[in-house]
Amino acid sequence: MQICNNIDTNEKGNLTFAGFDTVELAKKYGTPLYLMDEDKIREKMRIYKNAMTKHFGKGSVPIYASKAASFKRIYKIAEEEGIGVDVVSIGEIYTALSAGYDIKNAFFHGNNKTLEEIEFAIEKGIGYFVADSFEELEKINTEAKKQGKTQKVLLRITPGIDTHTNKKIATGNVDSKFGVAIATGQAYDFAQKALSYENIELSGYHCHVGSQVFDAETFIDAVDIMMDFARDVEEKTGYVPEILNLGGGFGVRYVYSQPDLDIENSIKEVGEVLTQKCKEVGLPKPRIMMEPGRSIVADAGMTLYTVGTVKQIKNFKNYVAIDGGMSDNPRFALYDAEYTVITANKATLPKHYRCSIVGKCCESGDIIQEDVHIAKPEMNDIIAVLTTGAYNYSMASNYNRLRKPPVVMLSGGKDYVAVKRETLDDLIRNDL
Ligand code: LLP
Repeated sequence: MQICNNIDTNEKGNLTFAGFDTVELAKKYGTPLYLMDEDKIREKMRIYKNAMTKHFGKGSVPIYASKAASFKRIYKIAEEEGIGVDVVSIGEIYTALSAGYDIKNAFFHGNNKTLEEIEFAIEKGIGYFVADSFEELEKINTEAKKQGKTQKVLLRITPGIDTHTNKKIATGNVDSKFGVAIATGQAYDFAQKALSYENIELSGYHCHVGSQVFDAETFIDAVDIMMDFARDVEEKTGYVPEILNLGGGFGVRYVYSQPDLDIENSIKEVGEVLTQKCKEVGLPKPRIMMEPGRSIVADAGMTLYTVGTVKQIKNFKNYVAIDGGMSDNPRFALYDAEYTVITANKATLPKHYRCSIVGKCCESGDIIQEDVHIAKPEMNDIIAVLTTGAYNYSMASNYNRLRKPPVVMLSGGKDYVAVKRETLDDLIRNDL
């Protein structure tokens, strides 16, 4: 059994990904190498799109949270699949625009958008702002007025939900840097303020409870709390939201011990509660948006490395050092994130060798994964780290002046470069 159905082994005993021999790809493109299975990305986008239309109703669409993996090609794919995108900076907006993405379908997030970003986004015709603060509302209104426009806005509301996820990626509780809380009464003032601005059109509400969330229950709680809030505002002001955006966060299986979430079924469960809840509060069903990032791209990704050294500390521990590290995947260093690791050119051999996979950066915390069991690797073997499609390329850095690896896309039996490997000249381009 493989962790995802795009992974297998072939007659040479090599690991395959999206039907490709990974060892051959490593030879062709060099390592470190990010691979992305375009067909898997599209499949996931369609699962969300179909399930959301079916269980939430017409006009409900997924918004791809592009912070999970942001480069031109991915926006093109989102455009072709007819889904929205979540952008969080002028850089992501610029990348989307450069790819020809129609940003009227984009939602602009962030807890501290700069004036430069606000001006740029309004000028380029961004679809929606997800306003995070009172100050931001005022800035949007002023800028929209200056440009002679009315800007659509959702309000980021903090529902007060405590998720069972890493605290660095939980966002739904009152003590959060994001959004305005219902519990303190400030969310109501936030809505009132938005309704008072002439150049703001309030389109609805947004909430996001966290990332890597496995239970539909969390989203059901969010629906419950947000629809109660909507009723409260409606009773006091008459305002009825057109959109309710539930944020992102469905979890992904990185290792066998984690669940393999059934996205469609989870959406169905949330949809049933939504219908019921809308009846209860006497409001029409809003258009529902969800913002999956990780669950669209994570298992569409894999990273390949070449083994340099195998250090065996007698009677203690083994270190396998690869030619990348925390510069292309900082997630273990940041979140103790779990990953499945395979020796790609020995994929059918017994996995008896216990070791830690470490990078080549100059610090001890540069670990990709601790204590994994793999087929014993030696110099020049290929190591595959699975499920790296989300928050790897997008969080990569040039620490130690390492060059970022390329992103190679795999689709329908064809491989192509979506992002080139950085060159030494790229590293010094801005140095004077
Ligand atoms: N919507 C909003 C407003 C968000 O803040 C996020 C993620 C998403 C959607 C997408 O959530 P997803 O479906 O990907 O779970 N760097 C961390 C994850 C940070 C998530 C930040 N916000 C990691 O590598 O685990």
